[in-house]
Amino acid sequence: MITVAIPKGGLLADSIRVFKSVGLDFSAFLDSSNRQLQIYDPTETAKALLVRGQDVPVYVEYGQADLGIVGYDTLREKKPKVAHLIDLKFGQCRLSVAVKASSSYRRSVELPPHGRVASKYVHCAREYFQNLNLPVEIVPLYGSVELGPITGMSEAIVDLVETGKTLRENGLVEIDILFESTAYLIGNPLSYRLNAGGVNELIGKIREQILTAA
Ligand code: PRP
Repeated sequence: MITVAIPKGGLLADSIRVFKSVGLDFSAFLDSSNRQLQIYDPTETAKALLVRGQDVPVYVEYGQADLGIVGYDTLREKKPKVAHLIDLKFGQCRLSVAVKASSSYRRSVELPPHGRVASKYVHCAREYFQNLNLPVEIVPLYGSVELGPITGMSEAIVDLVETGKTLRENGLVEIDILFESTAYLIGNPLSYRLNAGGVNELIGKIREQILTAA
């Protein structure tokens, strides 16, 4: 039996749609009254685990799930030992540097040396500023990162931007982009190599669906 790890939140509905397109129905996860975290497809050929996005690669790397769907941003931040199988093209967003609109900074390199940058993406942010040769202090935050510059705790943030609405409504502007992100199908390297439970056929079907939809 194949096990897939599905992310809660913004990628959930599209992830379920992808599996449905290849005959696996995990739509019970969309029911707001559902509290089950592990469900079986009605054909009983596969089961799904409902986990937080950042935990998807953990289940896949440790082999509790053969496949998973996760944002490229999470893969860049966590660098898990998983196979990046297919760019699923949904969940488009970007990891960006943003500052208060009223500030004078218009590029990352203009930020003051030894200034503070708040982010959930600590590793990506650190790597980015190291590459710019700009020493900054990365302040880890786990939500409402926009409050960093608003409260004066940090000069800038590194955060995901999808529509830009959150930045706008909080008086912030994007000044640089670290990278673009979309959802990826990832796989446990061993499951993939051994074709556990016929996982390669399933990957092939998903690839076909994505190519047809493109
Ligand atoms: C992300 C990100 C921004 C927001 C950007 O948060 O951290 O706050 O989405 O989207 P927008 O550009 O369309 O406004 P998310 O909703 O994933 O919640 P989180 O902060 O709990 O991670």
